[in-house]
Amino acid sequence: MKIAIIGAGNVGASIASLLISKQMCDEIALIDINQNLAKAKAIDLSQMAIALGVNISVISGDDYKLLSDFDIVIITAGMARKDGQSRAELVKINADIVAKASNKIAKFAPNSIIIVVTNPLDIMVYVACKASGFDRSKVIGMAGELDSARLKFALQNHLKRDMSSSKSLVIGMHSDSMIPLIDENLSDSELNEIKSQTINGGALIVKLMNTSAFYAPAAGVINICEALINGSTKVLSCSVLDSNFIAFSRPVVIDRSGLKEILELNLKSKDREILDKSIEEFIIYINNLNINSANFNFS
Ligand code: 2OP
Repeated sequence: MKIAIIGAGNVGASIASLLISKQMCDEIALIDINQNLAKAKAIDLSQMAIALGVNISVISGDDYKLLSDFDIVIITAGMARKDGQSRAELVKINADIVAKASNKIAKFAPNSIIIVVTNPLDIMVYVACKASGFDRSKVIGMAGELDSARLKFALQNHLKRDMSSSKSLVIGMHSDSMIPLIDENLSDSELNEIKSQTINGGALIVKLMNTSAFYAPAAGVINICEALINGSTKVLSCSVLDSNFIAFSRPVVIDRSGLKEILELNLKSKDREILDKSIEEFIIYINNLNINSANFNFS
C-alpha cells in the first residue's frame, strides 16, 4: 500500500506520522512546492520510523511523477485559516491549488483514490472530482469525522463519560451550518451549547494559535484510510458527492474501492432546512468559481 500526501504542512506531516506509527502502508510520498520542507519532514519521519522499528520508506519532492502506482493520494495543500477568517474565504486560492493537484494526480496516479482535506472542504471535494475526472466514488472529503470528534469532545466534557464510541455524529457542510446529530437525552439549552461548541471547535483552535488544527484532522483522514485499506462496514461521516454533484458530510460506508454506500438521512425539519440552505450556498459557490471555463481540464 502506497499513500501520498500533497502538502507537507502540519496536517500532511501529522497524517504521515500516524500512518507510520500505526504501520498502515509500505511507502509514503510527501509532495510539496517547498521541496526543502518536504525533504526535511521526510527525513525526520523516516528516522521516526526507524526509531519505532517500522519499515516504511518516505520519499519527497515537488514532482508528481513520484505518485506513479500510488493507491491513495491525500490533498492537504492550500492556505489554512487565520484568526477571524471563515473557511469560505479560502475558496479561490485553494480551488486553484486543489484543481492543479487533482489534474496531476489523474495523470500520474490514475487508479488512486483521493482524500481531500483542504478547505473549504465540501467545495474542494467538488473541485478535486471535476479536475481529476475521477468517478465520484473515488473522491472522499474528510470533515465529518473531525466535526464528529469535536461533538463527542463537547459531549464528553459535559457528561463526564467516555464518548469515543458514541453514535452522535456531525453531517452537513464543514462550515457554521454543519449539523450535529446528538444521540443523548439533553435539554434544549444543553443541546444548543453542545452544538455551538462543536461548530466553533475549529475556530477556537485558530483563535488560540492563529492556524488550524492538525492532530484531529489527521486522525479523521486515518479513519478513512483504514476503511480504504481494510474494507469496512463501519459508518463514517465523510463529505462525498451525490448523483447531483453536491458534496457534504453524511453517513457513508467506504470499502477498498472507495465510496460504497451513502446511508439515508432522516433529518428533523429544522436540520433539513439548514442543510437545504447550505446546499443552495454550495451551488452558488460552485457557479461563481466558474470552474468549467477555467484553464484546467475540467470535464
Ligand atoms: C478545522 O476545522 C482545518 O477545517 C479544519 O480545524
